[in-house]
Amino acid sequence: MPLDHALTLALPSRGAALSGSVAVPGDKSISHRALMFAGLAVGESRISGLLEGEDVLATAAALRALGCEVTRAGDGCWRVWGMGVGSLLQPQSALDLGNSGTSARLLMGLAASHPLVAVMTGDASLSRRPMERVMAPLRAMGAAFLPSPGGRLPLVVRGLAPAVPVRWRLALPSAQVKSAILLAGLNADGLTTVEEPVATRDHTERMLRQFGAGLDVGEADGVRIVSVRGPATLAPQTIDVPGDPSSAAFPAVAATIVPGSRITITGVGLNPTRDGLYRVLEMMGARIVRANPRTVGGEPVADLEVGAAPLRGIEVPPEIAPAMIDEYPALFVAAALASGTTVMRGIGELRVKESDRISTMAAGLGAAGVRVEELEDGLVIEGTGGDPVPGGAVVAARLDHRIAMSLATLSLAAERPITIDDGRAIATSFPGFRALMEALGCVTLPPPSEG
Ligand code: S3P
Repeated sequence: MPLDHALTLALPSRGAALSGSVAVPGDKSISHRALMFAGLAVGESRISGLLEGEDVLATAAALRALGCEVTRAGDGCWRVWGMGVGSLLQPQSALDLGNSGTSARLLMGLAASHPLVAVMTGDASLSRRPMERVMAPLRAMGAAFLPSPGGRLPLVVRGLAPAVPVRWRLALPSAQVKSAILLAGLNADGLTTVEEPVATRDHTERMLRQFGAGLDVGEADGVRIVSVRGPATLAPQTIDVPGDPSSAAFPAVAATIVPGSRITITGVGLNPTRDGLYRVLEMMGARIVRANPRTVGGEPVADLEVGAAPLRGIEVPPEIAPAMIDEYPALFVAAALASGTTVMRGIGELRVKESDRISTMAAGLGAAGVRVEELEDGLVIEGTGGDPVPGGAVVAARLDHRIAMSLATLSLAAERPITIDDGRAIATSFPGFRALMEALGCVTLPPPSEG
């Protein structure tokens, strides 16, 4: 196996611990939305703290192709000139969305209510992911799609302007599907409503309000109901993007499982629809303090102070899944070091993320000597009770950034280091991951010699 892009994290010596204070890059979900809403506002919006990972850059490039002016003014500082809802232009080339499901699905919503035809492509991972969940409501709003077999990318979307407003109940909890419908609804004639039997991340709702859209959020019989009135006029904004709790998951888990560690991660977004991992780690016995709570960009933020702690295995309540859906790979790593068994069910959706995260993690953990049992909709992990896992394996990341970072984190609690076969996908969400882990005291080892 060629290991030119391998990644192996380790501690500099036996008994070394993580220490220091770091800031994680901007939230990926919020960064995508900030660019898109700014692209629909009339005039210049300014964004600071934008995540400059490949996924968000794919959204920026797509918006440029749709006629918005998007420029980088400095580190994480961007300016976007939008032309208004309904004014996106016919792109002259295919929109390549790389590895980014959020770019693909939310931009399908944007395109669906504009008078244009767009071709959308992506990498091998994105081209395997299901798109019918978002095409179905957008078809009901008047858009037409020509997808590849299985309802996948590459696909062609033809929008209808203005779109037909719908009332749509989500069949599965998905903030991407909710957001695609609401984005299309901005250029529909009337009230577009999404019913969410299970609440998902609410960044779209928070930010649409900030941009001045007519948005209503209510509840009936336990179902969350979000409505937007179109055609909407959005006013340009200045937005500060908080740190990404999904990226903070890796140093937080690392500091929890490496004895003697004590770190601070500053400016982490802790929206209650996103902070499930931290709540579950606390249930398992982790020492996490949310210091200095404040509001940034309309989102709750705090500094996370994390100290090493012994963890106990638990049955993770399945209803918390939407609030930590991207953090299960990191939780699996914590569970591998806990005492007793951790049971995680109701997470079949993980099988259609950037990779099949249940089987990819089961394979990686298994290769590192962790006792795992794969379920159809989850994973059962037998923890070591705090002893290092055996390690000493080369594991596959399968084009999945969160798998690569999770297994790199596990390497810090392994008898012998764990090598990730290809760490390049990390740049999609966390370009400075390696440097941040080194700032906390980790070292990067050369790949093991082949043969
Ligand atoms: C996201 C929603 C989630 C999440 C993804 C980002 C978003 O996906 O897994 O990484 O920004 O709306 P689903 O909407 O498919 O649950």
